[in-house]
Amino acid sequence: MDLFEYQARDLFESYGVPVLQGIIADTPEEARAAAEKIGGVVVVKAQVKVGGRGKAGGVKVAKTPDEAFEHAQAILGLDIKGHTVERVMIAQGADIAEEFYFSVLLDRANRSYLSLTSVEGGMEIEQLAVEKPEALARVEVDPLTGIDAAAGRAIAEQAGFPAELVDQVADVFSKLYDVYKGEDATLVEVNPLVRTGDGQILALDGKVSLDENADFRHPAHKDLEDSASEDPLEAKAKAHGLNYVKLDGQVGVIGNGAGLVMSTLDVVAYAGERHGGVKPANFLDIGGGASAEVMANGLDVILGDPQVKSVFVNVFGGITACDAVANGIVAALGILGDAATKPLVVRLDGNNVEEGRRILAEAAHPLVTVAATMDDAAEQAAELAAAAA
Ligand SMILES: Nc1ncnc2c1ncn2[C@@H]1O[C@H](COP(=O)(O)OP(=O)(O)OP(=O)(O)O)[C@@H](O)[C@H]1O
Ligand SMILES: [Mg+2]
Repeated sequence: MDLFEYQARDLFESYGVPVLQGIIADTPEEARAAAEKIGGVVVVKAQVKVGGRGKAGGVKVAKTPDEAFEHAQAILGLDIKGHTVERVMIAQGADIAEEFYFSVLLDRANRSYLSLTSVEGGMEIEQLAVEKPEALARVEVDPLTGIDAAAGRAIAEQAGFPAELVDQVADVFSKLYDVYKGEDATLVEVNPLVRTGDGQILALDGKVSLDENADFRHPAHKDLEDSASEDPLEAKAKAHGLNYVKLDGQVGVIGNGAGLVMSTLDVVAYAGERHGGVKPANFLDIGGGASAEVMANGLDVILGDPQVKSVFVNVFGGITACDAVANGIVAALGILGDAATKPLVVRLDGNNVEEGRRILAEAAHPLVTVAATMDDAAEQAAELAAAAA
């Protein structure tokens, strides 16, 4: 889960990372009041989970509360790369002398943590990595020792910080690592980290991604969720405890086991090429125990996607045998009643497959077609979707 800048700022503050005051505002009036409270120069900053806000007109300096009002009016509602600005942060203005870059992240390829640091601020990090790779210090962080004072100094030195700043920035790196570790983050990025005219080091913009696998350790993370911008189908699936990912096609997919579902997406995409380019509409793994209720919940989510024109149910019977799955499908269609409106192509194989197919044949539901193989099923589902599109 990615956090908004203001949420990252609050986390930083609670770990002692030096930040400036920031107050969120949902209206221009609130922005003016926040600017009055902070006093002096402020910066009005769009709160969207996408980079390059500054260039898109989403970061503006205001010298007076009235100016903050005007900027907020201009920024609220702005579309930044497909994200609508619903909220701004009024940040205390900093007197910036120099801009730097620092991040610590999970380095999956090397099964370790990695810190990226640069004294060349003001440039996007992706661009810097390509155009001036020598200006970016890549230092592995040992998960067992983290960034202590010595590791922080080594990072600062490797990045080329002047000697008089090394201790000061090393301390900030350590605290940012505390955030990374303490919150189970996969990314903590500060761009820019700045030195002010009076010699302070401050984190002016923060980006934090949290590892949802560790949510059980962090009940407070629930409050950081942005339910308003969550995809409603994904939210519904999450509420049912289903592993669902919305995609952009027309063939709904349900399967048991992540590997089977992944390969189902492939065969559907492949078959779709022969049928006007239809594609899978989602990933949905209903897991091992495909009970009628789980099947009904899964179908309910998929049928709620207006883009879906047909559904491919691909189940390999294991511990939960095919007859149980077939009963689950029949019962699920009963539960859904008139809400089930789109054709289903079912492929069953594995444990008790004959009995499973018999149950489906006997139920003879008008929406259900039973296919013999996975490829046949993909072909039929793609054809039905293309015909309905
Ligand atoms: N509180 C502040 N005081 C003074 N200047 C600021 C402040 N916050 C940001 N700025 C200036 O605005 C620039 C852009 O701000 P920021 O880094 O927050 O947004 P961005 O980089 O455009 O967006 P993103 O990080 O989402 O790509 C900074 O590099 C800095 O020069
Ligand atoms: Mg930035």
